[in-house]
Amino acid sequence: MIRSAIKGIGYHVPSQVVTNQDLTELMDTSDEWIKTRSGIEERHWVQGDEAASDLAFPAAKKAIENAGINPEEIDLVVVATISSDYFFPGVSSQLQEMLGLRNVGCFDLRAACSGFVYALSTADQFIQSGMYKTALVIGAEAQSKFINKTTEGRDISVLFGDGAGAVILQPSQDEAGILSTHLHSEGKDMKNLWMEGPGSSGLNQINKLTIEQAQRYEPFMNGREVFKNAVVRFPEVIQEALDKNNLSMDDVALIIPHQANLRIIQSVAKRMGVNMDKFYANIQRYGNTTAASIPIALCEAVEEGKIKAGDTIILAAFGAGYTWASAAIRW
Ligand code: UT7
Repeated sequence: MIRSAIKGIGYHVPSQVVTNQDLTELMDTSDEWIKTRSGIEERHWVQGDEAASDLAFPAAKKAIENAGINPEEIDLVVVATISSDYFFPGVSSQLQEMLGLRNVGCFDLRAACSGFVYALSTADQFIQSGMYKTALVIGAEAQSKFINKTTEGRDISVLFGDGAGAVILQPSQDEAGILSTHLHSEGKDMKNLWMEGPGSSGLNQINKLTIEQAQRYEPFMNGREVFKNAVVRFPEVIQEALDKNNLSMDDVALIIPHQANLRIIQSVAKRMGVNMDKFYANIQRYGNTTAASIPIALCEAVEEGKIKAGDTIILAAFGAGYTWASAAIRW
């Protein structure tokens, strides 16, 4: 069986750093509230015309360089994002042009915070089947463009940050590679974390009514409900990855969870009876970057020497939909 392996990684965040203190000038909030509830100290936000593709492009270039490949070799691009530059087409088509790629298959995937693991799993199937040899998989978000940066939107806006992370997947030549991926979703409580418009439900017409209901064009989150679900689904999907590969926690060098809230990560570690050292966290510096959080964290963990050749790692995500997913990888 062909196994796919991550041959290159790269990430990019916008230059503007927004501290919790900076936010107190925009809304009624405090460094203490944000840090205690979420662990976040600062995040990066795009400025002016900067959009998701402007973050995805440098991240992709770094991953291509890191893999030591020629962009001509890429034959599939999958971008996980819910904050594409335009309603359509997707960021992936823009990247085809920006990176000067051949006219290869490019598509965006909308699975919110689980998007990167979904995209990785999708590209993995193409490599495993032998259909493609080199896939570029990206998580890229400029969520700060959609959030309400006043006191009215403070429950959401203090949590989100912008950024992008990318990987190059190719057939593995040795034992390294993606061991398994696990995707799930449950739509019954989708309104606990959603953005209603623009959409085909009726909020597609710009008229007086929709302008008055502008808040429906902002994300909404029932934080407590989402939290309660997250702390159950993360352990489930991590355990699923362990079971599938006959692994115990002792076999795993590092778990890279989606960075939604430091308290969620701590709670998952506690529920699984695992030391927090086994979970990577960088939410303190980036906030929740939705589909970009896992590839950014993966890059930093590798840079910090926390993942070495031969290590087994698990990526785990939970987010809007709800969707949740995991991937077991031998590095
Ligand atoms: O990545 C996708 C998945 N997302 C998640 O997994 C996020 C899950 N949820 C969470 O992380 C947490 O629920 C939050 C961080 C969103 C909120 O933490 P919480 O401990 O559940 O706080 P809360 O929602 O219960 O809010 C408590 C209070 C409220 O005031 P009252 O009604 O108790 O007087 C809010 O109005 O905090 C108030 N509040 C704020 N105060 C200062 C809400 N946002 C802020 C703010 N600054 N930014």
